[in-house]
Amino acid sequence: MHQIKQQIEALRQQLHEHNYNYYVLSQPMVSDQEFDRLMAELTALEAEYPEYADPNSPSVRVGSDINKSFMQVAHRYPMLSLQNTYSENEVSDFYNRVKKSLNEDFEIVCELKYDGTSISLIYEEGRLTRAVTRGDGQKGDDVTDNVRTIRNVPLILRGAQIPSYLEMRGEILMPWSSFDELNSERAAQEEPLFANPRNAASGTLKLQDSRVVAARRLQSFVYYMLGESLPRESHYENMTLARDWGLNVSSAMTRCQTLEEVFDYLHYWDRERKNLPVTTDGVVIKVDSLVQQRNLGYTSKFPRWAIAYKFNPEQAVTTLRSVSWQVGRTGAVTPVANLEPVLLSGTIVKRASLYNEDAIKALDLHLGDRVYVEKGGEIIPKITGVDKEARFLLGDRVTFTPVCPDCGTPLVRNEDEAVHYCPNSVGCPTQIKGRIEHFVTRKAMDITIGPESITLLYDKGLIRDAADLYSLRFEDLAVLERWGETSAVNLLKSIAQSKSVPYERVLHALGIRYVGETVARRLAHAFPDVGQLMEATVEELIAVEEIGDRIAQSVTGYFSDPASRNYIERLRAAGLQFNLNEKALAGRSEKLKGLTIVISGTFALHSRDEYKAMILQHGGKNSGSVSKKTDYILAGENMGPAKLEKAEKLGVKVIDEHSFLEMIGS
Ligand code: IVH
Repeated sequence: MHQIKQQIEALRQQLHEHNYNYYVLSQPMVSDQEFDRLMAELTALEAEYPEYADPNSPSVRVGSDINKSFMQVAHRYPMLSLQNTYSENEVSDFYNRVKKSLNEDFEIVCELKYDGTSISLIYEEGRLTRAVTRGDGQKGDDVTDNVRTIRNVPLILRGAQIPSYLEMRGEILMPWSSFDELNSERAAQEEPLFANPRNAASGTLKLQDSRVVAARRLQSFVYYMLGESLPRESHYENMTLARDWGLNVSSAMTRCQTLEEVFDYLHYWDRERKNLPVTTDGVVIKVDSLVQQRNLGYTSKFPRWAIAYKFNPEQAVTTLRSVSWQVGRTGAVTPVANLEPVLLSGTIVKRASLYNEDAIKALDLHLGDRVYVEKGGEIIPKITGVDKEARFLLGDRVTFTPVCPDCGTPLVRNEDEAVHYCPNSVGCPTQIKGRIEHFVTRKAMDITIGPESITLLYDKGLIRDAADLYSLRFEDLAVLERWGETSAVNLLKSIAQSKSVPYERVLHALGIRYVGETVARRLAHAFPDVGQLMEATVEELIAVEEIGDRIAQSVTGYFSDPASRNYIERLRAAGLQFNLNEKALAGRSEKLKGLTIVISGTFALHSRDEYKAMILQHGGKNSGSVSKKTDYILAGENMGPAKLEKAEKLGVKVIDEHSFLEMIGS
């Protein structure tokens, strides 16, 4: 028994060491495979011997789905914010005030102001014991389990002079790359998009399922140290030590001797921040000496020894003409502001997202209002405020439409969601047409028909759902306005061809909520016949890699509806593929088990989608971006130079299509 405990501890020790080498020193000492092997060994032992569990085991990085609401904890030191300014003059004022008050030499530390969600990391005897959100500054939410999954938050500090009680204040961020990926997944599933990486990061930290948090690849930066007995009397030196202990301190932190150097820093980063992988919204300017900080003290709200200079976001003022409501194929209704066109950051903006009812209420929006529009680092322009002074004729107040703009059904809003849904999924034309549009997309059934034709066929009563496509007749189509025989023949040919589309794409085409391309593929391989999938329980579904509770609930919910079963029966009767064909079954292997492969460039022998399918068919994992977890890059012509550079840096093997096909023995 004792031996097992030692073995577990040795593994943990090794993995902590490897994490440090990788994240802090950027000098991995072992391959990713070796790392994964050690991790697998550890998780297996921990599962077998739960009596040796440790909340700071490196294995917590994979997360767990134990549900609980967050506990509120009081901050030992309140979490303050900083005086903000957009003006360089106020930065000079700050500097001169400090100079006058101190009346002695002083140094300034300039840092980037990271735009994420603030966090307090508590380390006791060098071990992470708690992570708390800002909350109201006095008390916040205990999000320790979620924060433990963030790979550059060290679970155990290493090195000398670590105070026995230590609070590190910092920011949790979602890098742009993860943000874009997350939003495109959400767009594909018609889930509301996150407005910016900050909202995405704070939303993610509040998730119940830490496995989902782990998958979202958050990052941390720390910028402030608190405790009873700090090692040095200089902020800069303490932060430098913190870096040695394994914490992620920004390499942009710089000590400045003069106001001029401070301004150089501001100007430099106002340009360069656009190239950073995470969002920053300004620079924080701090007095370095802790003694001088104490002498300067605090106002009722802010420290007098620091100021935040915020970069100017690009903004424009325009008029709100109207608000329209968009219904998606899942019934989600999103408000869109129609604006008087205005130039912003080089593009003409005519529309802006209004997100949801709460956002509209918060703005107290009226038609005809002069509104501020911003693009600051965000994809969709947003309305950040209303110029209430400019109101002389008050237009109608904007209120959320109570009914579906398309079918008139009263909308529903679930209690803890901000989104309104049209519940009439079987009768709402926009939803029906949306589902058919999804069904025919290239990655689903690949039927060549555009949205206008779908609307036409729907309006003529020829199709009520996608299954009706398979009973269309030549004589129905050829007589349609502007159609003619050729279009009719072409459509029927394309529909007929879709009958050989493989099972996994048929599953994707069904449009089950959260079942995108990849999930559909996983499901198809785990349940090779749709009959098995229809009967699968939530537990059986969760047992499949990458399938979580949310997806499992959606799948079982879908198949428990008699209408869905009937729909599938009709599709099956039409001749669609509802099981993995023999070729796919026979061709399955585990040759790529445990390997993550990124596909890049264009290929001569097979399409990218075919390569994707092959990777999964042989038990591997396909990923979109190169990371430490990548084992191979399957590279074709014109592989992006950024990817290549990253691959070289991380030492990821790059293979061509011939070597890949050899690997899978084809
Ligand atoms: S120092 C007592 N440094 O901006 C001062 N804050 O309004 C503690 N932030 O609450 C904060 N980057 O959430 C500091 N380099 C940085 C920062 C930073 C981002 C955030 C933080 C803070 C807010 C200030």
